[in-house]
Amino acid sequence: MTNVEVLRFPNANALAADAAERIIRAAEAAVAARGRFLFVLAGGSTPEKTYALLAQSENARRLNWAATTILFGDERMVPPDDTRSNFHMARSALLSKVPVPEKQILRIPTDRAPSACAQTYAAILNFGQPPSASPPVFDLILLGLGDDGHTASLFPGAAALKEQKAWVTWSPPGVLPPPVDRVTMTFPVLNAAREVMFLVAGANKAAPVKEVLEGMPTVEKYPAAGVQPTSGKLTWLLDEAAAALLTRHP
Ligand code: 6PG
Repeated sequence: MTNVEVLRFPNANALAADAAERIIRAAEAAVAARGRFLFVLAGGSTPEKTYALLAQSENARRLNWAATTILFGDERMVPPDDTRSNFHMARSALLSKVPVPEKQILRIPTDRAPSACAQTYAAILNFGQPPSASPPVFDLILLGLGDDGHTASLFPGAAALKEQKAWVTWSPPGVLPPPVDRVTMTFPVLNAAREVMFLVAGANKAAPVKEVLEGMPTVEKYPAAGVQPTSGKLTWLLDEAAAALLTRHP
């Protein structure tokens, strides 16, 4: 049974501030326990606010960047300097402003067919080890929630939802923009993490949040419901607008 915590904040800025604090604490714990922090970033506007806060010097200096490896949960099939790229967003908001070593920023390649890029990224996730049957265990994975219930680039009805073997796969565009193919981590990797944190703000998220947290969601319709870490911790950080319809999570 997944250990899940639902937290509500008055607004998106308070949510981002708390998320930044939790990231710093997760990094501290990971470095103390294992000597490194494997941190998986999400795209989207809610994580972006958190990245901007983490980049501020009073926060940035509290994180051991030399021991941090940055990965990405999903990517749009656009060049890394395209404004629609998740990597580009993370680089502008955070990575260009903190002393994380360049070789520890492991972005999803987008220069070949999506299936080839997915395979390459799966090999990168294995950190040069021989292929292993069990997925890599990341310290912290950030995720967003789309108004259509998607998370990472796992869209409603997509074949990617059924992937049980590959660690990374690809998806044709969902209904939300931008209309480009995506490469995405799969449920086996998301659910192997030590901690997964959803960052969700805005009134357009209220209905999917209600369905995922208090309804009877199918993964087919609400992919975010498929994120149930096997032994890791799951935390939902919501602003009041996104939490507005919840009745069982005061
Ligand atoms: C992407 C994101 C995606 C995002 C959600 C929520 O590539 O689009 O990884 O899964 O997290 O769509 O985005 P917002 O926070 O902007 O609503």
